[in-house]
Amino acid sequence: MTPLTPDEIKKMRAAGRLAARTLEHVEKYIRAGIVTDEINAIVHEYTLSNGAKPAPLGYHGFPKSVCTSVNSCICHGVPGDEKLKDGDIINVDVTCILDGFYGDTSKTYFVGEVSDAAKDLTDCALNAMLKGIEEVKPFATTGDIGFAINKYVTKRGYHVVREIGGHGIGKTFHDDPFVPSYGKKGRGPKLQPWCCITVEPMVNQTDLPFDEFDIPSSDIKYYLTGDRTLSAQFEHTVLVTDRGYEIMTLP
Ligand code: MF3
Ligand code: CO
Ligand code: CO
Repeated sequence: MTPLTPDEIKKMRAAGRLAARTLEHVEKYIRAGIVTDEINAIVHEYTLSNGAKPAPLGYHGFPKSVCTSVNSCICHGVPGDEKLKDGDIINVDVTCILDGFYGDTSKTYFVGEVSDAAKDLTDCALNAMLKGIEEVKPFATTGDIGFAINKYVTKRGYHVVREIGGHGIGKTFHDDPFVPSYGKKGRGPKLQPWCCITVEPMVNQTDLPFDEFDIPSSDIKYYLTGDRTLSAQFEHTVLVTDRGYEIMTLP
């Protein structure tokens, strides 16, 4: 958690904007029939053509340029031969490295017409992220963010993932602090002005423990809900300013 200089903040803004624009670009292709490996190719090409690198590719051995997490996949879904079908939800998590700085953002998309239950869960994940972001200001704590997220998610009858969450980000992909999706007000590390973090709650229909799966030749694991019910997630990279926050991953 090292404060960024004004020049570094400009670079973070550019990296964040590119990650957000990559999501905007890929959104146009999300429909029944597309294969997750095609989403990977679209993200890969778009990132390179904008002078950046896809951060996931080779990260701790991760084999692809983006994470595509479908339905019961909580995160770190590996693009492959899975074909999207009407009614699926898919989280696309894009991280690019531009001029040495990381921009990390994800959204959950609907494939065609999805169930009311899927819509409600996804709406909860989006608003949970926004509730967390609203807590970001200098010297607030990671516990303040987690408390706000978990309070909102619980009120809506869903369950946050506790073991995985947000992180410091800047010149590295995953920096301290860990930004949990649960917590107690005032607990945890204090947010420092001019540092960036991500806020990225994963919201499950079930409160069962998740199942963990190895990715061949990688230290990264992917996770499925315990009973294969749905999980949804949104993520922004956020700058702690002198008064509050600035979302870096807006197009
Ligand atoms: N983008 C993920 C995050 O939000 C990390 C993905 S790491 C990978 O932190 F190796 F799976 F790509
Ligand atoms: Co992240
Ligand atoms: Co991410």
